[in-house]
Amino acid sequence: MENILIPEIQRVAELRADQSVVCLMGGEKLPDILNLSEIEAAYIRKRLFEKDEFIFINSYNKFTYFIRIRDGISESYRKEELRKTAYNINKHISGNYPSDLVITGVDAFAGAIEAFAEGLILSLYSFDKYKTGAKDRNNKKHPRRVLLHGNIPDASLIWLATNLESVYLIRNLINEPVNFLNASTLANEIKQMSQYSGFSVEVLNKRKIEALKMGGLLAVNKGSVDPPVFCILEWKPENCTNKKPVVLVGKGVVYDTGGLNIKTGDYMNHMKVDMAGAAVVAGIFYTMAKLSVPLHIIGLIPSTDNRPGGNAYTQGDILTMYNGMSVEVVNTDAEGRLILADAISYASNFKPGLIIDIATLTGSAAMTFGNQAIAVMGNADREYFEILKESGNEVFERIAELPFWDEYGESLKSDVADLKNLGSKEAGAITAGKFLEKFTKFPLIHMDVAGTAMLKKDDYYRIKEGPGSGLRILTTFLKKLAENNTLR
Ligand code: BES
Ligand code: ZN
Ligand code: ZN
Repeated sequence: MENILIPEIQRVAELRADQSVVCLMGGEKLPDILNLSEIEAAYIRKRLFEKDEFIFINSYNKFTYFIRIRDGISESYRKEELRKTAYNINKHISGNYPSDLVITGVDAFAGAIEAFAEGLILSLYSFDKYKTGAKDRNNKKHPRRVLLHGNIPDASLIWLATNLESVYLIRNLINEPVNFLNASTLANEIKQMSQYSGFSVEVLNKRKIEALKMGGLLAVNKGSVDPPVFCILEWKPENCTNKKPVVLVGKGVVYDTGGLNIKTGDYMNHMKVDMAGAAVVAGIFYTMAKLSVPLHIIGLIPSTDNRPGGNAYTQGDILTMYNGMSVEVVNTDAEGRLILADAISYASNFKPGLIIDIATLTGSAAMTFGNQAIAVMGNADREYFEILKESGNEVFERIAELPFWDEYGESLKSDVADLKNLGSKEAGAITAGKFLEKFTKFPLIHMDVAGTAMLKKDDYYRIKEGPGSGLRILTTFLKKLAENNTLR
C-alpha cells in the first residue's frame, strides 16, 4: 500500500479573510466575510446568473471561486453538477494550489459542500507512482488540506473521507500494470489494506484451490506462469445487525489477454483493469471495517491472469467446477464467469442472505450503457434493487437494470456438459449473468461494470483508466442495509 497522497479533509468553524475559498451559492447572497465591494458583488451576480459556471477572483495572496448552485433539478443532479464543477475548477487551478483550500456555502443545500469536496478530491487523483520526481511536483498539485466550512455532521465528514481514501487505494490497485500486480501481489495488497482497517483475510494458494477443486479458476490459470489465489475477506463486528451475511464477489483477472481466443486490435488495451471488481470488494471492506459499520460481510476474490501460455485451457475443454457442475469451454475470453462461478458456488457455504458480484464482465454491458450506468440484474428481492438504485443516485454511480428472464439462459445448454461458458451473442451481458445464476440457490445481484470501470479518458472526476466504479454505490448500499436492518 503506497503513500496514497490524498489531501486531508477537515471541518473548520471560521472562515479567514486570507484563505483561498470556493463558495457555493444557493441564492444571490454573497458571504459577508469576504468583504466584497458593491461593484465586485454586482459583477459576480451578473456573470453567475447570466452564464458562467463559476467566477474566479484572483487577489495577490489568495483566490476565490464563486459557484451558483442550479435549482429546478433533482438533488442527485445538483450534487453531481457540483462534483463536475469541482473537476472543472481543478483544471482551472491547474496545479497552483495553496496549502489550504476552504469550501464554504451561502444558502447551499445540505450536502452541497460535501459533494463539491468529493468531486474535487476525486479529481485530484493521478497515478504517479512510476513518474520520476512526481512526489516533488506534488507540492502544489494538491492542497494539503481541504477545509469544509459549515454545518457538516461528524458522521458525514468521516464517511466521505474514508470512502475517498478507499477510492484512492483501489484506483492505485486498478491502475497497476500486471508486471507489478499479479494475483499474489493483489493478495498481498489486500492483506495490507486489512491491517490498516481491521477486516480479516485468508489467502488460499494454488494447492488449496486444487484441493477445493475450483475447476474454473484453475482452468483460466493454466496458460499463466503465475499461480492463482482465492482471497476470503470477512468483516463481522459484534454488533452486526444481520444473521445471514452478505457475500461480495469480485472478478480478479489481473490481466485479460483473452487466452487462446486472444484479443486482437485494440481490445487488449487497458485489460489490466479487469480486476476492478476485486479492487472494489477490497475497498468496501476497507471502508466498512474502518468505520465499524455493523454488518456481517464476506468477500470472495478469485484471481489470476488469463493468458495463452504453455498449457492454456482451450476451446472444447470440459471443466468440473467447485460445485461439481461441468462446463464446456466455447471461448477462453469468457474467463470472468468461470472464476466467478467457483466463487459464487463457494459463497453457498456461508448461507448468505444476499450475494452481490461485481465484475468487468462483458463488452455487451459496455455497448449497451456506455459509461453512464452499471448494468445490474438478478433474482434478489425487489427491495434490494430499490435500495441499490437509490444509493446509485446519491453517489451518481447509477445502475440500469436488465431483464433476467429464464429464457435468456437457454442458449447456455451444451451437448457435452451441464453448461457452456458462452450463450448466444445477442444479449451477451444477460446470458453472462444467467450463467452465474446457475451456480447458487441463494439470492443474487450481478453488477457488470465493464462500461464504467474502464475509461479511456477522464469522465470529469472519474479519472481514467480505473476510476474505481462501484465502490461508493456499494458502501452506501451496505450502510443502508445495516441502518435499516434490511437483512435481519
Ligand atoms: N474482460 C472482458 C470484458 C470487458 C470488455 C471488460 C471490455 C471491459 C471492457 C471479458 O472477459 C471478455 O473478454 N468478454 C468477452 C466475452 C465474449 C468472448 C463472449 C466480451 O464481452 O467481448
Ligand atoms: Zn475475457
Ligand atoms: Zn475479462
